Amino acid sequence: MPQRMPYVGGNWKMNTDLAGATALAEAVAAGAANLLSACQVVVCPPLTYLQAVGKALEGSAILLGAQNFHHQPSGAFTGEVSCSMLKDLGVGVVLCGHSERRHVMGEGDVLINAKVLAALEAGLQIILCIGEKIEQREAGQTDAVNAGQLAYGLAGVKPEQLARVTIAYEPVWAIGTGKTATPIDAQNAHRAIRNEIRHSFGDAAADAIRIQYGGSVKPGNAGELFSQPDIDGGLIGGASLKAGDFLAIVRAAAETGNA
Ligand code: 13P
Repeated sequence: MPQRMPYVGGNWKMNTDLAGATALAEAVAAGAANLLSACQVVVCPPLTYLQAVGKALEGSAILLGAQNFHHQPSGAFTGEVSCSMLKDLGVGVVLCGHSERRHVMGEGDVLINAKVLAALEAGLQIILCIGEKIEQREAGQTDAVNAGQLAYGLAGVKPEQLARVTIAYEPVWAIGTGKTATPIDAQNAHRAIRNEIRHSFGDAAADAIRIQYGGSVKPGNAGELFSQPDIDGGLIGGASLKAGDFLAIVRAAAETGNA
């Protein structure tokens, strides 16, 4: 059985304010201190609070992540920020392909791939989010949708860059709805995703890559999800906004993950 350190991300989305973001980061850093040898953790605050959260995380091994960025290095892109600007603030991880960016902001596969390649070229780690909509699931297309988003998203990624890639399987119908894939359904999707990586990048890469589950993960369901053999932690939305809940989820990953 390959050793993969569990990995839990907090995606704060468009929530918190400056004081709340700082307090949340401080509480997570304090509470996670003795868990970080068994579970990697990243928090992704709104872009405007990255600097303050980075400061609050100083001295902690918790990674600082950004929810969004532009793939060009600089130029006339009003309202956008580049990878190097994020790196200036201590960002080490970026999310790519989140379902809200795909389905609410209208990002397509070509743009998502450009962002993946730009972030990896910039030396960042990425979390590439994929997942099917409810009608695709009901039509039996879950694995095909995931395989397609994976193939598009990772097109042109060099084998040596894959070590900086994490996949987050987030079924769209489970995000923010309180509905969670059953541990068995999630495991089946994760195994299929890992097999796609095996097909494209080989056994060692497939065995090493972390695949997070996302979609209404809570302290009460995290342990069962994370104990599945191909689920290596989670990407957490709503529950990442409460330090106690997020820390309970990190603890579940540290205790039941595949490390
Ligand atoms: P929820 O945990 O709120 O369902 O959000 C999941 C998610 O989108 C994380 O990126």
